[in-house]
Amino acid sequence: MKAAVSSMQESSQQDHEFLNDVLRGLAGDQKTLPCKYLYDELGSQLFEKICDVDDYYLTRTEAKIFNQYLPDIAEEVGPGALLVEPGAGNCEKVEGLLHLLKSPSGYYPIDISPEILYLAGQRIKKGLPHISIWPEVGDFTQAEVWDNLSNIESKKRVVFFPGSTIGNFEPDRAEQLLETFAANLRAGDGLLIGTDLVKDSVVLERAYHDSEHITEQFNKNLLQRINSELGGNFDLSSFSHRAFYQPLRQRVEMHLVSLRDQRVAIAGEQIVFLEGETIHTENSHKYKVSSFNTLLMKGGFKPVRHWTDSSESYAIHYAQAI
Ligand SMILES: C[S@@+](CC[C@H](N)C(=O)[O-])C[C@H]1O[C@@H](n2cnc3c(N)ncnc32)[C@H](O)[C@@H]1O
Repeated sequence: MKAAVSSMQESSQQDHEFLNDVLRGLAGDQKTLPCKYLYDELGSQLFEKICDVDDYYLTRTEAKIFNQYLPDIAEEVGPGALLVEPGAGNCEKVEGLLHLLKSPSGYYPIDISPEILYLAGQRIKKGLPHISIWPEVGDFTQAEVWDNLSNIESKKRVVFFPGSTIGNFEPDRAEQLLETFAANLRAGDGLLIGTDLVKDSVVLERAYHDSEHITEQFNKNLLQRINSELGGNFDLSSFSHRAFYQPLRQRVEMHLVSLRDQRVAIAGEQIVFLEGETIHTENSHKYKVSSFNTLLMKGGFKPVRHWTDSSESYAIHYAQAI
């Protein structure tokens, strides 16, 4: 009973935080919504579908690099490692690595979406019964989801952060996030991190505006989520999906565009939208290997090496906490 009450308190606290973030984001001159809210159960499923779409080259290219260099990467990670994966999603990418690592100490996946983490945890337990798993539901930018690490013994901790999720953070926030990782590592511990690299804008824009319209559904699901969880009344058909490359900031921006003047009610608040006004929902920053190395150093890491595909479209970096 006590556990049920505390989980109800937790979930009402999360709703409160979601509402505050939504109202704050929609009150600015440029309306924004934090991209972490794209990932409820349906959002996570849609993201998995995006990863299979032809236009979305990122997952495919990252997988190719992993397939080609996995033994090398496992060697770099070394024996006895505890893998910590913030934003683990379906935990698929870690499996190959866990299979190849020498005597890993375990796996500590963190994700904001409990449903996907639960299913992935069950699958990993079946496929790799000798690996201890400590799943954490929560926001990886917050200190509390890292706290349990200190209770787990390991020779080495390695943060595994694939999927170019670091690209969702503005450079100063990305630096802070790297500092959060570094704060939970000891000198010599590792970071294995994927970044999408700067490339032709047509290729970039197609990846975030795919011809199968899955990214559009993923983006609009955020409005549906506000409707169902916060009692909003967004009319999804009066918003359209837009994704474009911003060369000055080297990022793809994802927006929802209001197709007419309209008012939307959320928890008793009225939000006014003019025709053509947008809600900025996600950034995906692109890096050069050299600029990412600079960011790694600012965030408390020494770049050690990186692996790329033959067209240098994507990179996986290994760095050491200083
Ligand atoms: C771009 S996906 C990457 C998933 C997986 N690591 C991969 O490489 O395919 C982002 C994942 O991070 C989770 N996520 C996003 N923001 C988060 C946050 N602030 N805290 C915890 N999880 C987050 C989402 O639920 C989603 O599963």
